[in-house]
Amino acid sequence: MTGELEGRVAIVTGAAGGIGREFVRGLLGAGAKVAALDIDDGLLGELAAGHGEAVSAGRLVTLPADIARWAECEAAVGRVQERLGGPDILVNNGAVGMGVIRSDHMTNLVEIHEIGPEVWDRFVAVNLSGAWYMTRASVGGMLDRGWGRIVNVTTSFFTMMRGKFHPYGPVKAGFEAMSAGHATEFAGRGVTVNVVVPGGPTDTPMVPPESGIDRAAMVRPSAMVPPVLWLCSEEGGAWNGHRYVAGNWDAALDSAAAAEGCRAPIGWPDLAGSPVWPGGKPPE
Ligand SMILES: NC(=O)c1ccc[n+]([C@@H]2O[C@H](COP(=O)([O-])OP(=O)(O)OC[C@H]3O[C@@H](n4cnc5c(N)ncnc54)[C@H](O)[C@@H]3O)[C@@H](O)[C@H]2O)c1
Repeated sequence: MTGELEGRVAIVTGAAGGIGREFVRGLLGAGAKVAALDIDDGLLGELAAGHGEAVSAGRLVTLPADIARWAECEAAVGRVQERLGGPDILVNNGAVGMGVIRSDHMTNLVEIHEIGPEVWDRFVAVNLSGAWYMTRASVGGMLDRGWGRIVNVTTSFFTMMRGKFHPYGPVKAGFEAMSAGHATEFAGRGVTVNVVVPGGPTDTPMVPPESGIDRAAMVRPSAMVPPVLWLCSEEGGAWNGHRYVAGNWDAALDSAAAAEGCRAPIGWPDLAGSPVWPGGKPPE
């Protein structure tokens, strides 16, 4: 992949987190210029310090911003355009996890009375609106130029449907549905939208030490990188509206075969094909 993304500009949200920093490393390694966006200024400083050469060369820019706020997303994308160009690639990865409610939420599941409306609203704002704001601010230029890659990090269907895993699960289900809709909306215009998920608990700060899960047995955050780089490549650009389970990516295969092995359509297309529609088919 070295050099394949030269000349491309990527934005990664949640870039200072466990998976986000692996995306930054992978995209820089493939030759892209990267704008690393996160709400945590301190972690962004650490990220920049770990990539001193890329920062000095103007290939890595760190941007503190809260994706739950439209004005901050719009301003951040504007700064990327001024400083790096593009953006050509958007990785909607930033999110809050259930750990913001309680660090033992995996062993002692969270019930509805523990979730205040402000907590519900914050999850919707960050984990759903944040991705929509970033897409809204970035996609116009991609469509104008006829080239773009949007990669959305949702979660496993098990987590979406799980009881006592609210607001995280249902909000991610909304993000999954949004991804399917955007893939359809931008299809045929050079901009792809795909979902990449780890497939299970991943060894990042989002899974607190109190989870009781053997950390060595979790999905490695670096496992998320190969499917994303492949989707950003020219070959991967042929695929739109799909969902890749990174934990099932077989690194022993070439990228096209590995992608084939962990690919399914986004969301629930088998349930979406035949609405009861007056007069026949709905417009597309
Ligand atoms: N870790 C897992 O087990 C797991 C499993 C499935 C999916 N995911 C998804 O993977 C993605 C990355 O998560 P992670 O495991 O690296 O978690 P993480 O907590 O390490 O990283 C999340 C990052 O998002 C940032 N962030 C939070 N709120 C923000 C906001 N309002 N604006 C901008 N940035 C914000 C955080 O500061 C953090 O750096 C998330 O979308 C998560 O839902 C994680």
